[in-house]
Amino acid sequence: MTSTASFKTPSDRSCLAVVLAAGEGTRMNSGKPKVLHQVANRSMIGHVLSTLAKAGATSVAAVVGPDREDVANEVRKGFPGAQIFVQRDRLGTAHAVLSAREALEQGADDVIVAFGDTPLVLAETFAKLRAPLAQGAGLVAMGFEAQDPTGYGRFITSGDELLAIREHKDANEAERAITLCNGGLMAIRGDLALSLLGRVENNNAKGEYYLTDIVEIAHGLGYRTAVAIVPEDEVHGVNDRAQLAAAERMIQDRLRQEAMASGVTLVAPETVFLSHDTRLGRDVLVEPHVVFGPGVVVDDGAVIHSFSHLEGARIAPGAGVGPFARLRPGASVGPKAKVGNFVEIKNTELGAGAKVSHLTYLGDASVGAGANIGAGTITCNYDGFGKYRTEIGEGAFIGSNSSLVAPVAIGKGAFVGSGSVITDDIPDDALGLGRGRQIVKEDWAIAFREKARAAKEK
Ligand code: UD1
Ligand code: MG
Repeated sequence: MTSTASFKTPSDRSCLAVVLAAGEGTRMNSGKPKVLHQVANRSMIGHVLSTLAKAGATSVAAVVGPDREDVANEVRKGFPGAQIFVQRDRLGTAHAVLSAREALEQGADDVIVAFGDTPLVLAETFAKLRAPLAQGAGLVAMGFEAQDPTGYGRFITSGDELLAIREHKDANEAERAITLCNGGLMAIRGDLALSLLGRVENNNAKGEYYLTDIVEIAHGLGYRTAVAIVPEDEVHGVNDRAQLAAAERMIQDRLRQEAMASGVTLVAPETVFLSHDTRLGRDVLVEPHVVFGPGVVVDDGAVIHSFSHLEGARIAPGAGVGPFARLRPGASVGPKAKVGNFVEIKNTELGAGAKVSHLTYLGDASVGAGANIGAGTITCNYDGFGKYRTEIGEGAFIGSNSSLVAPVAIGKGAFVGSGSVITDDIPDDALGLGRGRQIVKEDWAIAFREKARAAKEK
């Protein structure tokens, strides 16, 4: 779901976004770089890049740690044409931005500095951050009122002017009492960026080149330095798994609110998990405890019943799915079709009004309109080497507990007798039976019991 909120971007200004992602993410205690961890099924840096694109970034320079081809690839995927720069030694945020010197030298009207581990910033916010640049400000820093300001840089202000940002470790008692803190992101006038950054020194508590120092430098040179205030949630940065879970919570909450605002009923929103790209139509009803993996589109008026798990699936108007259904990539459920409980569907199209009501696996199949797939039907689509297709014609009726051994085709209007193992095609309107013929032995049970009892009494 994409936000429908409209906002103004100074669209005639070019904008270079420098995304810092060279952090080691030690506290994640992970084999994977921090910015590749996901929220709402997309990497954190993927979120940042997509938001920057929405906010009108015209080019991206990502700063990554040494040997981080995986991060570089994710960046290229998230923003085609992005330039990648490697920061060999982590000498601070200003040093990190300067690692992208070549990109800065190419010249842009606006430069945004964003962090790859701060995935909740909204496009509106980046736009708001840029806006004062178009009106002559030299730089704009993003601030928030911190519940607990410990660790953050503090905004030293005078009226609307930002005089300096003091890092926590360098702040005195009075400065530490300030609760207006630095969210970390900044917008800088493109033609000033390199000269401001070039003046930053590292004589501070951490011995680092602080990006935040350019505020005092710019102010000292007579440029206007402005502040954009955002809610604290938006600047939530992720350093450990608990903060990752908190980011997930916040993004889920946003996605649920957006879904409801667009006309979706979520009976118990806090139990429904959405993906960044979930698309739900009007009057879709989602019962409690449903998980949407990536790539799901649900059209108007469909119902997703409880305890269903969907991924890469398309659901047409008026269809019903679940409870306890699993739709895997390539599942396509036709208009008013029904997928019932304990049914798994993969790479299969169900025609309009088709019914698969219970206990079934359909993989690599197509099911014609109005067909009825009985309980316990299994498509045997895999022989350990290749995958094969099962074609089921319109209006066909598959008796319960049948195995359809692919490749195989069941004709239109054909019947399959219950319990069949079908290995050969069945023509239209025919009956296919593939099972042992039933035999009945009259009074067999009486004879059996007598014999068994006698043997026991001996
Ligand atoms: C920074 C800000 C602080 C602000 C806080 C908000 C500075 C000096 N301080 O502090 O005012 O309140 O963010 O969260 O900017 N990075 C690199 N290379 C480096 C150093 C950092 O790529 O050499 C990246 C990190 O991976 C991270 C981002 O820059 O994504 C911020 O760095 P971090 O060390 O978290 O800065 P803070 O101390 O949190
Ligand atoms: Mg930080």
